[in-house]
Amino acid sequence: MTGNIRPESMQRITTPELAEAFIREQITELREQIGDQKVLLALSGGVDSSVVAALLIKAVGKQLTCVHVNHGLMRKGESEQVIEVFRNQLGANLVYIDATDRFLDKLAGVSDPETKRKIIGAEFIDVFAEEAAKLEGIRFLGQGTIYPDILESKDGVKAHHNVGGLPEKYDFELVEPVKLLFKDEVRVVGKALGLPDNMVYRQPFPGPGLGVRCLGAITRDRLAALREADAVVREELEAAFAAGTCKPIWQYFAVVPDMRATGVENGKRRYDWPVIIRAVNTVDAMSATVPEIDWAILGKITARILAEVPGVCRVLYDMTPKPIGTIEFE
Ligand code: XMP
Repeated sequence: MTGNIRPESMQRITTPELAEAFIREQITELREQIGDQKVLLALSGGVDSSVVAALLIKAVGKQLTCVHVNHGLMRKGESEQVIEVFRNQLGANLVYIDATDRFLDKLAGVSDPETKRKIIGAEFIDVFAEEAAKLEGIRFLGQGTIYPDILESKDGVKAHHNVGGLPEKYDFELVEPVKLLFKDEVRVVGKALGLPDNMVYRQPFPGPGLGVRCLGAITRDRLAALREADAVVREELEAAFAAGTCKPIWQYFAVVPDMRATGVENGKRRYDWPVIIRAVNTVDAMSATVPEIDWAILGKITARILAEVPGVCRVLYDMTPKPIGTIEFE
């Protein structure tokens, strides 16, 4: 896809047929651009990088190497799904790096949110660059840039998101097959490529992952509790969306603060973590409202977290709109 401006005449991709036509066109263009060269892609499992991976697999197959860096801050089952879908089902060359210890060691004792973000970002680039250096003859770097990224970088809102900061010495040429698409179009293309619904319709998940939801200095035990509690929140709400007992919510997750609260169980005192359920509806993430969730659903989530997640003795529902509260706690 050449040029960074979406032509006025470009039709919005809203149907499977239009998605199929886009996929065919992209396969031809990607083959022309890439020839017999090799491509590298950082595959997070988010919808944008997943769609780019699936397109590149169709276009150039084994000339693509996907690198999935598990920073230890992924949600429950996410890295496993990336391996299952891309390596096992789509037959991709997938390098899986479990860098959990590296990230958590660097983050140990660090409580400032922005410092945590910087450490996670910098470590990600280091790990990815190390893997890139091990691979020979890579000419292209695939990226899940989408049109809002281009518009925002033009407006100076944020730097064009990419595996930014990858040392210049690599001198890769970029391959950005969805750079003129909006998010909803990327999802239609993802569906047409046969990616699973929970990947295609995945709620936004911040780059630093659970790292900014395990508040303050991250510890492995509290991170494990967060991952389990978050899985319960997602499972129960997604079941409620499917059953029609709750309208779909834009973003919903668990947070575990770095404090304890008193509880009592079988006459014995406990002193354990609270879990905060955060759910918001928004159009652009600049402001957000808190949905009314049926009491029975919140009750079931609470009961399951208290029964299933070790180290948790209290569950809260955050009622704070944005502003004043940001969506994330950190
Ligand atoms: P806030 O907390 O600022 O979040 O109201 C707005 C949206 O941005 C996401 N978010 C991030 N995404 N890296 C990301 O890729 C980050 O560091 C980050 N911080 C917040 C957040 O999940 C919400 O959708």
